[in-house]
Amino acid sequence: MELFRKKSLGMFQHNLAQSSLKKGLNAIDITLLGLGIIIGTGIFVLTGVVAADYAGPGIMLSFILAGITCAFVALAYSELAAALPVAGSGYTYTYSTLGEIVAWLVGWGLILEYSVGSATVAVGWSAYLTGLLKSTGFHLPQALTAGPMEGGLINLPAMLIVGIITLLLIRGTKESARVNKILVFIKVAAIFIFLFLAAPSVEPVNWVPVLPFGWHGVSAGTAVIFFSYIGFDCIATAAEETNNPNRDMPIGIIASLLICTLLYIAVSAVLTGVVPYSDLNNAEPVAYVLRHLGYSFGSALVGTGALCGLSTVILVFLFAQSRVFFAMSRDGLLPKSFSKVNAKTGTPVEVTLIVGTLVAIMAGLTPIHVIAEMTSAGTLFAFLCSLLGVMILRKRHPELPRPFRCPALYPMATLGIVFCGYIFSNLSVHTFMMFGGWLFVGLLIYLFYGHKHSVLSVGSDAHRRYRAQVEDSETFGAGTTAASES
Ligand code: ALA
Repeated sequence: MELFRKKSLGMFQHNLAQSSLKKGLNAIDITLLGLGIIIGTGIFVLTGVVAADYAGPGIMLSFILAGITCAFVALAYSELAAALPVAGSGYTYTYSTLGEIVAWLVGWGLILEYSVGSATVAVGWSAYLTGLLKSTGFHLPQALTAGPMEGGLINLPAMLIVGIITLLLIRGTKESARVNKILVFIKVAAIFIFLFLAAPSVEPVNWVPVLPFGWHGVSAGTAVIFFSYIGFDCIATAAEETNNPNRDMPIGIIASLLICTLLYIAVSAVLTGVVPYSDLNNAEPVAYVLRHLGYSFGSALVGTGALCGLSTVILVFLFAQSRVFFAMSRDGLLPKSFSKVNAKTGTPVEVTLIVGTLVAIMAGLTPIHVIAEMTSAGTLFAFLCSLLGVMILRKRHPELPRPFRCPALYPMATLGIVFCGYIFSNLSVHTFMMFGGWLFVGLLIYLFYGHKHSVLSVGSDAHRRYRAQVEDSETFGAGTTAASES
């Protein structure tokens, strides 16, 4: 039972009261953070392959299916983020409901979503930059744009973008949100310009047959296209830095998901309406369609939009990763230095640097596409646990103030579990095995380190720190019962 010990609500309130992270984000910032992370590789790259090889014009249904799945999850996350506005997202929610070992595994799985995810996107960013420079006649040498296993030496642009964004994140959350805002406007503008230019050329005949690969194609396409929605859960990691999380979190999560779903459906409808779906089999379908229509500046335009788009995805992924590590370290499951906040910037500088360095190395040297599907596995695992968590929290703590209540929670969360489970089951056997191995390594680290050092382990440094803080803030009563609750 020790492994399933839980952090109590009193401890969360204490974490919140003691938080040294600087506030400053409002509902619009949160929505833009959402758009920053959600719109990226999925729409700019994956749409073409999914339309051509999996779903045909039925890709619109794939987007709707994946969007519905994420809507269930988003409603649950909104309730949790408003009720427990503490950094850490899925990790934090699981800690209070399913227990420490599951929380650790969720946090461990989130590394796949956030760190592996951002390294993957950084490699995509490098490919777009290389392509864009090539179109202006400037060729970067292969040795400096690909890792050693892909015929190069090092992927320098990928490392560079991770480095720049890491420095920005260190400067401050508010500053990062400001840059994010500008980049989000550019990428959304690129999408609207595409829709504006291409929509008049839609020929409905291209939408027939709607399901050339049958329903199977749509569902297989959903598993791939799911990547384009990944990230809205990252928004919840910013809860401690939000001015009024109880209100702003649900607004930000739901609004960003809704906007993205509408944009995705519109883009995929126009793409498959302008050219036959089989023509879309390339890595830059949006630019391809614009070129096909004779808009020669299309490639550069979309390339710039995509560069901005991918930068914001990296930014929010890195932000989210450092906040999850921050929360895990505060709980004693990772070394203490991971939760140190710099007094001047109000950001966790050390952990941001560590995350940035690791991601930069991964992006510079690893053939990342090999493990990219793991991003979806880690995300789905966190979603499944959080959906279970939201139901457990309702049952165990009906008294907890919930500024946002998910309507018809139990059926909604159950449907979310069924949909996520279905997408999970569509991942490849190879991914299942790699994910199993990843969880196993995580389990060992927990058993040999986290379990002993946890804030819930009486006698650990984290526990002593927690008690000292509680005594300081004269809320000792709530804190000690909290620590022993299981
Ligand atoms: N949803 C993000 C993307 O499509 C991860 O790049």
